[in-house]
Amino acid sequence: SPPCILSASLLAADFSCLSSEISAALAAGCDWIHIDMFDGSYVDNFTIGPPVLKALRARHPNVCFDCHLAVKDPAHYVKEVAAAGASLMTFHAEVLGGDTKAMQEVAGAIRAAGMRPGIALAPETPASVVMQLLKCGDVDLVLCMTVTPGFGGQKLIPEVLNKVSELRRVFPDVNIQVDGGINASTSVLAVQAGANILVAGSAVFSPASVIMYPTAAVGAGCS
Ligand code: DX5
Ligand code: ZN
Repeated sequence: SPPCILSASLLAADFSCLSSEISAALAAGCDWIHIDMFDGSYVDNFTIGPPVLKALRARHPNVCFDCHLAVKDPAHYVKEVAAAGASLMTFHAEVLGGDTKAMQEVAGAIRAAGMRPGIALAPETPASVVMQLLKCGDVDLVLCMTVTPGFGGQKLIPEVLNKVSELRRVFPDVNIQVDGGINASTSVLAVQAGANILVAGSAVFSPASVIMYPTAAVGAGCS
């Protein structure tokens, strides 16, 4: 499977000093920075918007900003998010009713805007919804939410790992991301199931700032 990546979720960082939180995560060995851009529509939380992303990009010109948009109308934000400096833009299949053509259109717009597209599935959404998209190579990653999207600090829903295994069986080379409740122990289970991109918020930005990398990655058999 593709290389193992740890993406640190800023949702658990200190919002009063995001730039230095990013530096700390990168210095500790995190690969990507996961930015939860929630507008309070699809999920009940209002977090980071394009102006904040833009300010962070100015401070961190080279890092991969892995932007997770839990919003009802992702197409509406493609240009703005690209201009603000996102590397990757992941949107939810549910907001488009799982319609393959609609998802392909948004993914195409994301690519045309110079970003890499990702598709996210809430815990209860089956893998079948994205099979066509992945077969056609329309997206660069599939995000299997391991908690109900919206808030950090929740417990991983173990059933989601069956979906991860199912996807990995069909697509040996696809990037499979997991997000929610990922820590030093659950990351091992997620990687065993076939995930290769781990998103972690509270496990990275704990109050003591004990960053889980490389403990979890090593435990999970990643290099
Ligand atoms: C939750 C977000 C996650 C969140 C994960 O809906 O998508 O990125 O920050 O937080 P932890 O790792 O604390 O579960
Ligand atoms: Zn997220």
